[in-house]
Amino acid sequence: MKGYVILIASVAALGGLLFGFDTAVVAGTLDHLTAYFSLTKVQLGIVVGATSIGCIPGAWIAGKMADVYGRKKVMLLTALLYVVAALGSGLAGKYGTLVFFRLVGGLAIGLASTVAPIYISEIAPARTRGRLGMLQQLAIVTGILVSFISNYLIAKYHPVDDWRYMLGAAVVPSLVFFLLLLLVPESPRWLALMGRGDEARRIFGKLGTEPPAIEEGSGHTATLSEVFAPRYRRVTVIGLVFAAVAQLTGINIIFYYAPLIFEKSHTGGSALFQTLLTGIVNLVFTILAFWLIDRVGRKKLLLVGSAIMATCMLVLGALFWTNALDNYFVLGAIFLYIAGFACSWGAVLWVYVAEIFPNHIRGKATSVAVTGNWTANAIVSLTFPYMLDALKGGPTFLVYALLNAGMIWFVSRYIFETKGVPLEKIEETW
Ligand code: GLC
Repeated sequence: MKGYVILIASVAALGGLLFGFDTAVVAGTLDHLTAYFSLTKVQLGIVVGATSIGCIPGAWIAGKMADVYGRKKVMLLTALLYVVAALGSGLAGKYGTLVFFRLVGGLAIGLASTVAPIYISEIAPARTRGRLGMLQQLAIVTGILVSFISNYLIAKYHPVDDWRYMLGAAVVPSLVFFLLLLLVPESPRWLALMGRGDEARRIFGKLGTEPPAIEEGSGHTATLSEVFAPRYRRVTVIGLVFAAVAQLTGINIIFYYAPLIFEKSHTGGSALFQTLLTGIVNLVFTILAFWLIDRVGRKKLLLVGSAIMATCMLVLGALFWTNALDNYFVLGAIFLYIAGFACSWGAVLWVYVAEIFPNHIRGKATSVAVTGNWTANAIVSLTFPYMLDALKGGPTFLVYALLNAGMIWFVSRYIFETKGVPLEKIEETW
């Protein structure tokens, strides 16, 4: 594969790095934010949840904007929003201001999580599209880990007003993201759809790929009602359900609430250190998945991963139910669960949502799917603390065990394999 393709896909994936960073960074700031702004529990929940909530409109408008203005312009806007959100949250003097800038950050993540996968799938050669698309997830998990490390270092070396530096730190990578984006070309498939075939062919040449047989368009991209019209309804709904259930695996109850779970499980050792380990396991197994996705294929990974995750949730549920919490099985089950996710849903999610749709509906349909993902994300992260209080650990994890078992049925019945199939031929596989 040409180095140039890898380079520009990596630049697009930087939006994912900030996505991972911004969603996970808040965990380290909770105590100090509560003290500084005298927050109630509900207010703190709003500060945490604002980002996920902001993602929903971000994802919803992303497809339309990317169709109208092009993929590159929307990514540039995303980078600017990331800068504004980091500065605004770090400098916030009032609780309301902080919530506002966390919402802006969410908007940026919603846009990035839709447009980057679209862009990468549209510049990638079919044979390696999975691996290139996975750069997004690799960037997300790196961002999560970087936020854990940055929080740890800032708390240690700059404890005064440390939350400001934790939240503001994203300004540097956001600016780098903006500058690098200026150097990437527009998506040639979008240009072709807009009837700008000459420019598209020139870019395909630079990418070193044969221009695919794209119907050159007159600028028409699908409307929302078209993506739900009978011809596309099935694939749109599969994409939407797929992206939403990826969150129902419960992965973010671990990433957003790891310290809470570790405190309840008294496995010994510092919750911060164990949280850091979850980030490392996630990264290591995402790298492994990188080598698997175009070899093994999407469907098999999802099936095996779901089975591993269902089993781990079952074990966790049983350990919490029987109060057998002071042993290393808790840690082991959590780490194996993360490894299972990283090799399956984590790896496939952002690749699959952008590759299953035909060119002219990709913008809107990906938006619909990613909006479903963020809505489910908000539901899971908002309900988890209450489930844990009301149901206690055992039943809560058992609910997630059942959900993961349900995924096996969903994947075997509805997910079709896309490994190695050119984008223009994927429609034939469904
Ligand atoms: C995926 C999910 C994201 C999660 C991450 C964990 O990117 O979309 O919500 O935090 O994986 O690795």
